[in-house]
Amino acid sequence: MVSCKLLSFSAFFVLSVSVKLSVTQVDVGTDTTSPDPLSTTICTTCSCADGVVNCMNLNLTTFFEIPDWDGLKDFKPLSVNLSQNSITHISRISKLPIRELNLSNCDIQTIEDGSFIYLEDLAILDLSNNKISTSAINKKVFAGPLGILGPVNFKNMQYLSLANNDLHSLAQDLFLFMPDLLHLDLSDNPLAFIDQVTMGAISDLKYLRELRLSNCELETLPDGLLRRQRKLRRLDLSNNRFTTIPAVLKEAPSLVYLNLDRTPIQTLDSSASLGNLTKLQELSLSRLSRLQNVSAGALAGLGDLVILRMNYNPRLTNLDPDFLVSKNEDDEELWPNLRELYLNNNNLSTIDSGILDNWKELVAADFSTNPFICDCKNQWVVDVLVPLLVTMSANSTINNMVCKKPAELKGLTFGQLNEASKTLVCSEAESITEVQVSNMAIILGIMIGIVVTFPMVLVLVLLWRRGFFSRLREGKPDYDEEAEDL
Ligand SMILES: *[C@@H]1O[C@H](CO)[C@@H](O)[C@H](O)[C@H]1NC(C)=O
Ligand SMILES: *[C@@H]1O[C@H](CO)[C@@H](O)[C@H](O)[C@H]1NC(C)=O
Ligand SMILES: *[C@@H]1O[C@H](CO)[C@@H](O)[C@H](O)[C@H]1NC(C)=O
Ligand SMILES: *[C@@H]1O[C@H](CO)[C@@H](O)[C@H](O)[C@H]1NC(C)=O
Ligand SMILES: *[C@@H]1O[C@H](CO)[C@@H](O)[C@H](O)[C@H]1NC(C)=O
Ligand SMILES: *[C@@H]1O[C@H](CO)[C@@H](O)[C@H](O)[C@H]1NC(C)=O
Ligand SMILES: *[C@@H]1O[C@H](CO)[C@@H](O)[C@H](O)[C@H]1NC(C)=O
Repeated sequence: MVSCKLLSFSAFFVLSVSVKLSVTQVDVGTDTTSPDPLSTTICTTCSCADGVVNCMNLNLTTFFEIPDWDGLKDFKPLSVNLSQNSITHISRISKLPIRELNLSNCDIQTIEDGSFIYLEDLAILDLSNNKISTSAINKKVFAGPLGILGPVNFKNMQYLSLANNDLHSLAQDLFLFMPDLLHLDLSDNPLAFIDQVTMGAISDLKYLRELRLSNCELETLPDGLLRRQRKLRRLDLSNNRFTTIPAVLKEAPSLVYLNLDRTPIQTLDSSASLGNLTKLQELSLSRLSRLQNVSAGALAGLGDLVILRMNYNPRLTNLDPDFLVSKNEDDEELWPNLRELYLNNNNLSTIDSGILDNWKELVAADFSTNPFICDCKNQWVVDVLVPLLVTMSANSTINNMVCKKPAELKGLTFGQLNEASKTLVCSEAESITEVQVSNMAIILGIMIGIVVTFPMVLVLVLLWRRGFFSRLREGKPDYDEEAEDL
């Protein structure tokens, strides 16, 4: 805390000098002459209505200048959309009540220091899909509104998107003037590795509710990255290079939504650090090109889970029926009450009835496009699951749940099997092995028989010849019958 304040204090001094200099320059240029807001340059170029200035996709090549912005003073714009133009340089905007500023898709490369210092009410700043590099942004660029001594924090700043730019790292104090940020989008930047400095920038945002780091070429996440964000609810880590679930997720027990799509995770087992996410409601594990096995307890402990997407994993073959189950101290099994379950487009040959505690809680589900083996293991699917899916109006699922085996049922859908009240027999593969096993047993039995009986018979014959039994008959009649049977 103390070091943080010191930091912002020193930043004041650094910034206040430069900022004050430019303030005087700016004030000279301020000259509002036009009383009619709709006749200003900006509103003749863009459409202005109801507090919204829409300049989207107008082939603009230069940013508006201070006098242009000053012309909007009477219009009192709340939202300005300049996206989809070719503006490479952003310069300072006049004092206006703008809350939303959309500068996305503009080819922006440079942003003047303090461009937003007059926008006290700024809450949403979209700088996504530009060409902003690491060196083009620093705390001066994002300097907050001017106080007596220099820039102070933006009091309403909630949302900042820097997605799809050319950021390799972030300066530690980049977000100095927006400490209350709730949503930060850094997706589609070549971060590759979150170094200590970048981590500092992110972990200082302790009120963050949503962090997006999709497609940032990340292989790991550093310890401590999420330790300070006690309120982080949504985290998008999709399309990165994680081969296991990042251990740092243990630090984010407040997560409600987690996206790990398109990561090369091979195996999910009980070591998968998700157990602390007791508040997680929605988990997405889709398009994991290498995922093969999900073992017992792999997703255990997600007691609040409501939506699970584990689909389009073309190699996912082994899904343990207990993958969602955890046990409490009394050895009782604990299950989440899933309401939506998507297991479509995997390599599963069966849906085990044991994967959910209560199938009736489901309101949406998809199991289609798996190579189903239509044998007795899937009988319950025909008899129980299909009718349940019908009540969910999930007909397309049923019609795309197709038998791959056995040959005589190949191509039939589970909908058709249900309509025909089909009884599925246990699979060929199994009966073949059973036959083989019993054949083996017979052969083995015969061999044992021969090996064991032959010497026994021999011994008996020898004994009989020597008159052993006649001697026995006299002494012990009990053995008599047994011996005769032999
Ligand atoms: C922008 O430029 C493109 C091609 O240069 C043209 O087709 C389009 O009409 C222009 N749009 C506007 C709003 O001027
Ligand atoms: C233009 O930007 C505003 C403010 O950022 C936003 O609300 C609006 O949806 C954008 N318009 C379009 C068509 O995306
Ligand atoms: C900004 O405008 C783009 C359209 O170019 C839109 O997709 C995006 O959602 C807008 N951003 C915000 C924050 O509304
Ligand atoms: C995560 O859960 C384990 C037990 O499952 C516990 O020992 C650990 O302290 C938890 N970690 C955090 C950061 O809450
Ligand atoms: C998945 O399980 C199968 C069978 O148990 C095993 O042969 C395979 O190596 C496992 N794959 C991975 C990636 O762990
Ligand atoms: C799908 O599973 C079958 C066994 O059930 C296996 O032979 C095949 O290699 C798997 N396909 C892929 C793409 O992993
Ligand atoms: C869904 O399938 C059931 C039985 O298979 C049928 O009665 C119902 O009409 C179908 N609904 C739609 C919208 O196709």
